Amino acid sequence: MSHPAASPRSFVAHGPLRGQMTVPGDKSISHRALMFAALAIGTSRIEGLLEGEDVLVTAAALRAMGATIIRHDDGIWEVSGVGVGGLLQPTQALDMGNSGTSTRLLMGLVASHPITVTFVGDASLSARPMGRVIEPLSQMGADITASPGGKLPLMVRGICPAVPISYTLPVASAQVKSAVLLAGLNTPGITRVIEPIATRDHSERMLKGFGATLSVDETNQGRLISITGEAELKPQSIIVPGDPSSAAFFAVAASIIPGSDVLIANVGLNVTRTGLFSALRMMGADITKENPREVGGEPVADLRVRHAPLRAIDVPPDLAPSMIDEYPILFVAAALASGRTVARGAHELRVKESDRIATMAAALTAIGVEIEEFDDGLAITGSGGAMLPGGATIASKLDHRIAMSMAVAGLVAQASVTIDDVAPVATSFPSFFETLDALAG
Ligand code: S3P
Repeated sequence: MSHPAASPRSFVAHGPLRGQMTVPGDKSISHRALMFAALAIGTSRIEGLLEGEDVLVTAAALRAMGATIIRHDDGIWEVSGVGVGGLLQPTQALDMGNSGTSTRLLMGLVASHPITVTFVGDASLSARPMGRVIEPLSQMGADITASPGGKLPLMVRGICPAVPISYTLPVASAQVKSAVLLAGLNTPGITRVIEPIATRDHSERMLKGFGATLSVDETNQGRLISITGEAELKPQSIIVPGDPSSAAFFAVAASIIPGSDVLIANVGLNVTRTGLFSALRMMGADITKENPREVGGEPVADLRVRHAPLRAIDVPPDLAPSMIDEYPILFVAAALASGRTVARGAHELRVKESDRIATMAAALTAIGVEIEEFDDGLAITGSGGAMLPGGATIASKLDHRIAMSMAVAGLVAQASVTIDDVAPVATSFPSFFETLDALAG
């Protein structure tokens, strides 16, 4: 999928954010709902699916491999699956756009099917490392030819039957974990993944919901996840909760803009995803949880966030897996706190949609924030609540979360902050600007 022409947009300080908002469906859960439904026998129904570009890429790829996927006018999606083992040979290369999750999880699915698939993507995705999935999927017998450095474009020649493996994750990555589990779905015997550091567990929860035989055991090596292959998945009715990673931008915006009071409805609060809210609370943020409930097997609540003075913290590195996508917006919160926030132990940020350490260091420096860059994080000297100087154009590097984070920074800047291209925001949060405008009144 090619991105539309660059679309710049400017932001500058204005009044408080007030009112109620909802966030779109969780991106991680939306990808998985489509993929598992595409492997079930029968028709699944999905409510609240994120209709962002990344998820639409997954839908298009699954259609190209035989699934029937329909969106009804009321926003409900219906997926008629092909059954585990039933994916068809696509006639063309699959274009993954900007989406790492689509690429890595679908590589896992293809690896144990007797089909050959070429994956291509945009400039950002084509710079990201795929070796981390190539390694275990090759051990299972798939034949993968990648571009130099283990990058896209790459070709996966799947194998059936594949060989079950027991794989210890060398990096804390839910995408790698899920790729191996998905390959295991069509592999005879039991495929095992050991994760020394727990990462988001949506695949495990949802695969069980679809009827897979999957167990999770705590061992002294970490979480051991075992999936029994040649599974038969049963169609499901799924409600996708709101994405905490999208809520994060508004939780920080409301915290740092004086006078703000925002209710963010329907936020997924799976503990493997809530590190940012914990960090913000440690900084003194005023975030309360209202109406806690369960939606689609995931904990959900409404979050009320009111402006509060923030103070610097040393961000505990063990929060990293549960807030890995939230560091860019945490850095913006830190830029408004009193004192010097240090966030380290997040080396993975170097290989996201952009190098989020370097990109945020450059962006915040450009708008007048004092930054020290480490190989695995940043130290940020906050303004103590004073407005930031601003007055710069930010290179967002095809990274939706950089664009949204720096838009929020613009809301507390004296001189306008221009994002060079906000088009990538549509990958995960197409209604971001509308929501912002509605709250800004
Ligand atoms: C995701 C896992 C994380 C996260 C990404 C979504 C997922 O990536 O950054 O946005 O849905 O499994 P890693 O597995 O690379 O940490």
